[in-house]
Amino acid sequence: MKWLVLLGLVALSECIVILPLRKMKTLRETLREKNLLNNFLEERAYRLSKRDSKITIHPLRNYLDMAYVGNITIGTPPQEFRVVFDTGSADFWVPSISCVSPACYTHKTFNLHNSSSFGQTHQPISISYGPGIIQGFLGSDTVRIGNLVSLKQSFGLSQEEYGFDGAPFDGVLGLAYPSISIKGIIPIFDNLWSQGAFSEPVFAFYLNTCKPEGSVVMFGGVDHRYYKGELNWIPVSQTRYWQISMNRISMNGNVTACSHGCQALLDTGTSMIHGPTRLITNIHKLMNARHQGSEYMVSCDAVKTLPPVIFNINGIDYPLPPQAYITKAQNFCLSIFHGGTETSSPETWILGGVFLRQYFSVFDRRNDRIGLAPAV
Ligand SMILES: *[C@@H]1O[C@H](CO)[C@@H](O)[C@H](O)[C@H]1NC(C)=O
Ligand SMILES: *[C@@H]1O[C@H](CO)[C@@H](O)[C@H](O)[C@H]1NC(C)=O
Ligand SMILES: *[C@@H]1O[C@H](CO)[C@@H](O)[C@H](O)[C@H]1NC(C)=O
Repeated sequence: MKWLVLLGLVALSECIVILPLRKMKTLRETLREKNLLNNFLEERAYRLSKRDSKITIHPLRNYLDMAYVGNITIGTPPQEFRVVFDTGSADFWVPSISCVSPACYTHKTFNLHNSSSFGQTHQPISISYGPGIIQGFLGSDTVRIGNLVSLKQSFGLSQEEYGFDGAPFDGVLGLAYPSISIKGIIPIFDNLWSQGAFSEPVFAFYLNTCKPEGSVVMFGGVDHRYYKGELNWIPVSQTRYWQISMNRISMNGNVTACSHGCQALLDTGTSMIHGPTRLITNIHKLMNARHQGSEYMVSCDAVKTLPPVIFNINGIDYPLPPQAYITKAQNFCLSIFHGGTETSSPETWILGGVFLRQYFSVFDRRNDRIGLAPAV
């Protein structure tokens, strides 16, 4: 969740929409290490389970194309929470009943006294995101995602929250690599994996457009009904975030960004697409977009004339059509491209929900690779 933008909502004609109330300015963390491996062995491919009963398909609710939120439970008896399934972080937390921040008054809080399986560690924690920060302590308990059960799962309990007021979720469930989890905590996916919950250590996202229902995260395999054609596999370049190498970004055959190659993070906890501000400005020039506050307004007719923005990854083109990168708000239209990653070196892009709605995505921990295919 590098760049989740919490929004004031403006009801719309079509999909929806949105005007940012608050927006992040900088990427706190500098992603700098080099791309590790290019010689990814495709032969390592294994057969992904064909729709077998071992796949857990978990529904997500789409909040205005801004956040995809699913239910989980913690404790005995179970207490239910709404969480963002976030490939852009590795930590898992929900609000504690002892939380004193205004954000906690409007969210579900966990009462540890009511759970017979709760184990406390008294370790303090602090987790920062693009949109905010939480502080609290660590605990452990039984966590359920549908029929998946993670025993003695460590998680954070917030006592203070900043930046999460009005969020359509109570907490965050991180699905990035354990190397970036705080205090070396074993993330929920790894805990489930070591407890034998999956036939294959993969998870996948299908993110619906506009509709509240129909989006899913699946664990343990891939349901082929959610994509068209074949999955193209891309090696993870750094096993921290779900990070890959991108070759270039082009429009109409002209390279507009990522001209010497760049890095890209696939982030289900970010809604838009973020890149270095200078390059985003160039892209907006080509779109004839006008800067207005923190937004770029585009003529709504441009949807009919603008070319797709093409992300070339591992030699394969992933076009993003103007219908996806221009959103309609009442009587005007906005570009979903945003700046802010210029503090990262090498050049880094964050591909959020806008991209992941077009491309069904598979996150394969055994082979450290990401599979993409056009979503149905
Ligand atoms: C989560 O649970 C609430 C009620 O407990 C329900 O209304 C909602 O539909 C659930 N969301 C999903 C995505 O299943
Ligand atoms: C949870 O614990 C509180 C006291 O901490 C108690 O008042 C409440 O009834 C309990 N709720 C449930 C569902 O057990
Ligand atoms: C692509 O580049 C050529 C040559 O610089 C230019 O004439 C053309 O207008 C460019 N097309 C776009 C869409 O920018």
